[in-house]
Amino acid sequence: MQIRNFTADDYTEAYTLWEKTPGMNLGSLNNTYSGIKSVIDHNPALCFAAINDDGAIIGTILGGTDGRKGYLYHTAIADGYRGQHIGSTLIHKVLDELKAQGIEKIGLFTTNENVKGREFWEHLGFKQRTDITYLDIDLDLI
Ligand SMILES: CC(C)(COP(=O)(O)OP(=O)(O)OC[C@H]1O[C@@H](n2cnc3c(N)ncnc32)[C@H](O)[C@@H]1OP(=O)(O)O)[C@@H](O)C(=O)NCCC(=O)NCCS
Repeated sequence: MQIRNFTADDYTEAYTLWEKTPGMNLGSLNNTYSGIKSVIDHNPALCFAAINDDGAIIGTILGGTDGRKGYLYHTAIADGYRGQHIGSTLIHKVLDELKAQGIEKIGLFTTNENVKGREFWEHLGFKQRTDITYLDIDLDLI
């Protein structure tokens, strides 16, 4: 297994993995090629892919930052490769880079139905916030 930066050229293969991965919530944001390319273009040092010995993508993570807080998206490990510390290795690559960039707080979203996903993040030390409610708006509606 090898970890390298995720590039826009990985999009099609990664999207196939995301479609097969529970909890990805692909309908909630712009997950088209241009949407994902935009994340990578803004955060080139924070997006990673795990590659198996055949060169196939078996894991992804997209990190992002607004310069103050860091965010994690699209943490996905292919079925058959889970439980081998590939996910946590990818996560720590992003956390290390965010720390190097001076970021002190990292957040992420999971759907309420993704109980396993939430338990995973809690196992890694992330805490569920009960004091805030998340709101958003589609700008094409205003
Ligand atoms: C969640 C996911 C990314 C974990 O990746 P992984 O490579 O299987 O996890 P790791 O092997 O790195 O596990 C790291 C640690 O978390 C623990 N862990 C793994 N899945 C867990 C879960 N669902 N609940 C609690 N702990 C979990 C492991 O036992 C390991 O513990 P240890 O370090 O104490 O030995 C992967 O299972 C996945 O792609 N799931 C579907 C998509 C998803 O839910 N993504 C995250 C939510 S957005």
